[in-house]
Parts: sequence; C-alpha cells; structure tokens
Amino acid sequence: MLHLVSQTTSGLPADPDALAAALEGTGYLPDQGLATAAYLALVMHRPLFLEGEAGVGKTALAHALAQITGRPIYRLQCYEGLEASQALYDWDFGRQLLHLRAAEAAHAADDPARLEASLYDRRFLLARPLLQALEDSPSVLLIDEVDRADDEFEAFLLEVLSDFTISIPELGTVRAETPPLVVLTSNRTREVHDALKRRCLYHWLAHPDFDREVAILRRRLPEVTEQLARQVARATANLRTLDLLKPPGIAEAMDWATALHTLGARELDPDLAARTLGAVLKYREDTERVRGLPAEALTGG
Ligand SMILES: Nc1ncnc2c1ncn2[C@@H]1O[C@H](COP(=O)(O)OP(=O)(O)OP(=O)(O)O)[C@@H](O)[C@H]1O
Ligand SMILES: [Mg+2]
Repeated sequence: MLHLVSQTTSGLPADPDALAAALEGTGYLPDQGLATAAYLALVMHRPLFLEGEAGVGKTALAHALAQITGRPIYRLQCYEGLEASQALYDWDFGRQLLHLRAAEAAHAADDPARLEASLYDRRFLLARPLLQALEDSPSVLLIDEVDRADDEFEAFLLEVLSDFTISIPELGTVRAETPPLVVLTSNRTREVHDALKRRCLYHWLAHPDFDREVAILRRRLPEVTEQLARQVARATANLRTLDLLKPPGIAEAMDWATALHTLGARELDPDLAARTLGAVLKYREDTERVRGLPAEALTGG
C-alpha cells in the first residue's frame, strides 16, 4: 500500500511531516491535523474543504500549497448570485463583433456557416477560474468562501468536482489531465450541503494555540520583538475567550503586532493596548466591552 502511495505521489512530499516542513518553508506554519488533511487531499486527489473562522489561514494555505507544489493557482471568489458563466467561461462579445466587422469588410461573410464557426474560436473565449484550472493542469483551484454562493451554484460545483470536465458546446470538452488540487473554504455563514462535503476531505481550522501563534507572528513579522509577539499572542488568546461579535484571527493578531511595532512598542502595555484596539477588534460593541475590562483581562494569563 505504501508503495502505491509513493508511486502516485512522485514529486510530492512523502508524508504529512514532509508537507508541513515544506509549508513552513513558505512561511505557513500548519498544525499536524491540517498538514495531514492537506497531504491526504494531495495524494488522494480529493478536494479539501476548510472551514473555520475569519483570518485563521484558510486562503493562505491554498497559496502555500501552490507554492510548494510549483503549481499555478486559480481562485474563484464566491458571492451571492455567482453564476456558472462567471466561474467557467464567457464569450468575448466585443472581440467577436470586431472579428465579424473585419470579416464583412473582407467579404468573408459570404459563407455564413463558416463565419459563424469562426466566431466561436478559442481565442474569443474568456476562461474563468474553473476552466483555467482545468486547462493549466496540474493546478491548485481555490474556491474561496463557498458559503457565500447560493444553492444552484453549489449544485453546479458538485458536477464539476465529480469529473473535472467542462463541456463547451461550440468547442468541445475540456478535461484536466491531472485533477487540480481543490481547496474550498467556508466561514460557515451557512451550511454547505452534505453532497458537496461528501466529495471532500473536511478540516475545521481552529485558532492556533499560543506557541504556534507566537511562531507565526515571529515568522511573518521578524521585526517585532519576541516579547511583543508573545504578549500580543497572549492578549489575542484572551480576547478569543470573551465571546466577542468577531473574535480576532491570526490576521488581526498580525495587524495588532504591526500597529504596536509601528508605534515603537517593544512590549504591550495597557494604555497602548487600548489605543490600538482598532487593529484587532472590528466592532464598536467589542471595543467598548474590552475597554471596560480591567487591564489584566487582556494581558494576564
Ligand atoms: N498557519 C499560518 N502560518 C502562517 N501564517 C498564517 C497562518 N494562518 C494564517 N496566517 C496568516 O494570517 C493571515 C490571514 O489568513 P487568511 O487570509 O488565509 O485567513 P482566512 O481563514 O482565509 O480568513 P477569511 O475567512 O477572512 O478569508 C494571512 O496573512 C496569513 O498568511
Ligand atoms: Mg480567506
């Protein structure tokens, strides 16, 4: 069995630890659970469904995976009302029209059937992320914030993810030579259907523990002192226990450390913490609540 795995994964990391080490090389520090999920997604050719709160590193993981595999990454940002054509392809009407005019001027319009066929040439096709990811194989396909798209789009995704084939009536079928490594992310603003999840390996991305957060801050922001990084990580962890409207993610911890560093801080004192809360909290209610707490609620622990 092991033999089979190493055969199908030539050029890929040998195991989750090797994948974790490669990710660390790009500055992305995964925990063991995430490294295992990503490794399995790679070798089993299964989409990876990452769910978690905002700013915990879902999108960044897809970029880091693209970096370590040397694959191009295509990102489909989902939103309400997203339609298949915006994910797959569109015909470039403007260029088709110009082509038509030029053909008419050259009297090529005398053969309408040929003219029509020439309008549906590949060069007039605007490839969107899903098609790009299949054409430019092997690639990483990031379907970001899939919970924002609606049910119809989800059903459509289900189809594409089951055989990685796209049929373009005027041109034919596009099939990925190697299935892309698909990473779907969700902030869980709504539940994604079981049918879609069933096709994926699922991983809940939690906030990092204290040591990992310090390591991430140190790695991403080498200019920030160790002491400040530790205090920011501690205070951020304390904020996450407060049941806030928007608990801070890693992104906010990084912003906070950057803000403090920019103000010349080498450590986090209560006054400076209060003045820079806007880097880490994004709701007035949260800010007011934290300002009303004793200083050690933030820095203690
Ligand atoms: N494990 C990690 N190692 C290093 N950096 C990380 C890690 N996790 C998150 N980051 C950094 O934190 C920031 C936020 O990450 P990212 O944008 O991927 O979060 P997200 O989960 O996609 O958030 P959202 O749900 O808001 O889109 C990025 O700058 C990213 O590089
Ligand atoms: Mg994201």
